[in-house]
Amino acid sequence: MTAIRVAALADVAVGQPTLVEAGATRVVLVRIDDRVHALGDVCAHKGGPLSAGKLSGARLACPWHGWMYDVRTGQCVFPGRGAAVPTYPVRLENDEIWVEVS
Ligand code: FES
Repeated sequence: MTAIRVAALADVAVGQPTLVEAGATRVVLVRIDDRVHALGDVCAHKGGPLSAGKLSGARLACPWHGWMYDVRTGQCVFPGRGAAVPTYPVRLENDEIWVEVS
């Protein structure tokens, strides 16, 4: 695992999914209160961009066909077929966001 600085905390608005690149990996950052979650941007259904999706609480809906993911676990919660996207460990350091990708 390699930790990569991907953004300043101030660049990620609460409730606004934000696309960043961690090396070659597209990662969506989702800030809920003071916690930041990081998950893969590519929907497990047909590859829709989750960073363009709508956030509702801790659930992020894919903009293409509405599959919903829990941003804390990456698990698809609707339609709930056991699909998932990867999640990545996040570290906050001096208001900078670091994400660990392999
Ligand atoms: S590509 Fe995401 S729901 Fe279909």
